Amino acid sequence: MNIDLLLGLQWGDEGKGKIVDYLTQKYDIIARFQGGPNAGHTLEFNGIKHVLHTIPSGIFHPKAINVVGNGVVIDPVIFKKELEALDKYDVNYQDCLLISRKAHLILPTHRLLDAASETSKGKAKIGSTLKGIGPTYMDKTGRNGIRIGDLEFDNWKTKYRNLATKHQALINFYDVDVQYDLEELETEFFEAIEKIKSLKFIDSEEYLYNAIKNEKNILAEGAQGSLLDIDFGTYPFVTSSNTTAAGACTGLGIAPNRIQRVFGIFKAYTTRVGSGPFPTELFDDNGKHMAKIGHEFGATTGRPRRCGWLDLVALKYAVQVNGVTNLMMMKADVLSGLNTLKVCTSYNYNGNQIHHLPYNLEAEDLEPVYEEFEGWKEDITKLTSFEELPDTLKVYIKFIENYLDVNIKIVSVGPDRKETIMR
Ligand code: GDP
Ligand code: IMO
Ligand code: MG
Repeated sequence: MNIDLLLGLQWGDEGKGKIVDYLTQKYDIIARFQGGPNAGHTLEFNGIKHVLHTIPSGIFHPKAINVVGNGVVIDPVIFKKELEALDKYDVNYQDCLLISRKAHLILPTHRLLDAASETSKGKAKIGSTLKGIGPTYMDKTGRNGIRIGDLEFDNWKTKYRNLATKHQALINFYDVDVQYDLEELETEFFEAIEKIKSLKFIDSEEYLYNAIKNEKNILAEGAQGSLLDIDFGTYPFVTSSNTTAAGACTGLGIAPNRIQRVFGIFKAYTTRVGSGPFPTELFDDNGKHMAKIGHEFGATTGRPRRCGWLDLVALKYAVQVNGVTNLMMMKADVLSGLNTLKVCTSYNYNGNQIHHLPYNLEAEDLEPVYEEFEGWKEDITKLTSFEELPDTLKVYIKFIENYLDVNIKIVSVGPDRKETIMR
C-alpha cells in the first residue's frame, strides 16, 4: 500500500476536510493536488472548527507531513492568513508543511481579472469564488505564470511587473466597473510573499517519489468535486482544474500505477454553490430542511448552498471517471426526520429514459426520475457502529451500493472527527 486518493464526487463540499483529518493517523504524508483558495475544507475536533483553504487537511496531526502539490494555485495573502490561524494552535508548520516549487502563484491582478470576467458575463456568470482561480490556471497553461520556485531568484519581480501590467490592460478591456488600489494590494501581497518564503520549498515530485520508495503511505487530497472538473464537469459552470483522479497524477507527479485505492466522498443528498445545472435541486421544505439542518453555507464565501436529492446518475458517472474503490457517505444525520427520501435513478430526456449524464445537463426537457424510500426519525449523531443505524437508513445505503456497485466504507453522522462510523 502506498498512495490512496480522496476526492469529492459531487459539486464540492462533500466533507473532504473532515475525512482527510480523520484518516491522517494512517498516513505519513497528506498531499493536496489541485485547486486553490476556492476550496474551504472544514475540520472539527475538541469543540473547535477549523477551515483550511490551501493547506492540506492533515496539518493538525503532529507526525504527518503536508505537501502542497504542483497542481495547486497559491494566493500568498490567503496562505499567510491560514498560517496565522494555525499560530493559535501548536502546529509546527515550519517543519511539517512543504510547498512544491512548481505550484503557481495567484497574483492580486488574477483576482481582479476574475471579478472583471464574472461581471462582464452578467446573468451567465459562473458564480466563481472570485479567488482568481480561472485567470491563474489560464496563465499556467498559457505559459506566463509565476511559480513558487521563481521566488528563489532575484528577477521574479520583473516578471511580476510585466504580468501585472498585462493584467491591468485586460481588466480595462472588459470595460466593467472594478475598483481597486493596486498599490495597497501589492503591499499586502509582497508582505505575504516574505512569509511564504520562510517555509520549505521542495521539488515535490522527487520528494514523493523517494517517499514511495521508502514505503511511506501517502493520501492525496482533492479539492472541489468531480462535477466541477474542467473536462468532465458541467462545463462551463466548473472550476479550472482537473478535480478527478487523473488530476492527482498531474498535480503531484505520481504515476497512475502507484495509486492503490480511490476514496470517493459524497453527501447523502446533493448541494451546489454557484451557478449551473442541478437536475435534482429542491425549492420546497425538503430542500429547506437540508439547508438548515446541514448548515449549507459555503466555507469560503458564506454563500447559501443550493440543496437537492441524491442524484445517482451523476454519482455513477463520477464513480466511473474516478475509478472509485471505496465510498464514503457524509451527512446522513441531516436527513433524519424526513418522512420520505428520494434518489434520482434516471432522467427523462427528450422523451427517452436515460441512465447516463447527457452532454447538455441544462436542457429544459431533462426531468429526474426518482425512487422513493422511507425515512428515519432517530437522531443518529451519537451512534458508533453500522449495526446500530436505523433499518430504513440501511436500506437507503444498500440501494446506493447496488446502484453504484461500490461499497460504502464510512458513514459520517456529524461534523466532528468522532462522529464517523467506519465499517
Ligand atoms: P469539503 O470542502 O469537502 O471539505 O466540505 P466543507 O467543509 O466545505 O463542507 C462540509 C460541511 O459539512 C462542513 O461544515 C463540515 O463541518 C460538515 N460536515 C461534514 N461531515 C458532516 C456530517 O456527517 N454531518 C454533518 N451534520 N455535518 C458534516
Ligand atoms: P471545496 O474544495 C464548492 C465552485 C464555485 C463556482 C465554480 C467556479 O470546498 O469542495 P472558481 O472559484 O473555482 O472559479 O469557481 O466552482 N467551487 C466550489 N464549490 N466547493 C468548492 O471547493 C468549490 N470551489 C469552487 O462556487 O460555482
Ligand atoms: Mg468546501
